[in-house]
Amino acid sequence: MVKFVSASQINDARGNLTVVEFPQLLPFECQRTYFLKSLDPDLRRGFHAHHELRQVFFCVQGSCMVLLDDGINKVDVKIEGEKGLIIDKMVWHEMYHFSKDCVIAVFASDVYKESDYIREYDQFLKHVGKK
Ligand code: TYD
Repeated sequence: MVKFVSASQINDARGNLTVVEFPQLLPFECQRTYFLKSLDPDLRRGFHAHHELRQVFFCVQGSCMVLLDDGINKVDVKIEGEKGLIIDKMVWHEMYHFSKDCVIAVFASDVYKESDYIREYDQFLKHVGKK
């Protein structure tokens, strides 16, 4: 369930340059990018799965934890640096423990569609056949 992609990094005296190239790096065609910032370290976000959407999460600054749950297994993963976490369709996910400076960039396989969300955990378990 835990799959990462690794963005290439160019470090020199001027700083760090990180490259996410399409379509080479992402396992899907990117249709949308969104950013999460000013995150409260004490509040969890997410609490949903997607019917079809596939995403890759990068912490472009700082770090955070992500819970991945496929209805059978749950795993907690830290994301930071050049490692982009793939969140596949039908994986329940929650993000938490945001560092103070955390900025998350998400690359997604489709535009925003609320109808693609499963926001009730019981519904998610029904969809994956575990209830
Ligand atoms: P949501 O995906 O539930 O946030 P998180 O998973 O980080 O907890 O989105 C929060 C709100 O923002 C929700 O009302 C839907 C809206 N939203 C958009 O309008 N467009 C988007 O691309 C995204 C990701 C969310």
